[in-house]
Amino acid sequence: PKITFVEASGERHTVDAPVGSTVMETALRNNIPGIDAECGGACSCATCHVYVDPDWSEAVGGPSPMEEDMLDFAFDIRPTSRLSCQIKITEALDGLVVETPERQG
Ligand code: FES
Repeated sequence: PKITFVEASGERHTVDAPVGSTVMETALRNNIPGIDAECGGACSCATCHVYVDPDWSEAVGGPSPMEEDMLDFAFDIRPTSRLSCQIKITEALDGLVVETPERQG
């Protein structure tokens, strides 16, 4: 599947995302700016925060209660905010678009 990351500046990066990996891992592997992921995917840092494109919110789904608690620590959250380490890539997410925030934390 392909994922497109859109930077706060509007710059777009479309990359291959292996099924079974996460959006966060895909971002790091492709040096996408704007994702820090300090905790390495343990849902305990909130520096992998992204905004899911509204067209994709339903397919991606909402955060777990634990993720929701962690999102309180993220910078400038919106209704479509997710922690990208908690979004698993599936074939159904081919074409997914996520926006990275202006900054993390
Ligand atoms: Fe730390 Fe996602 S990488 S919460």
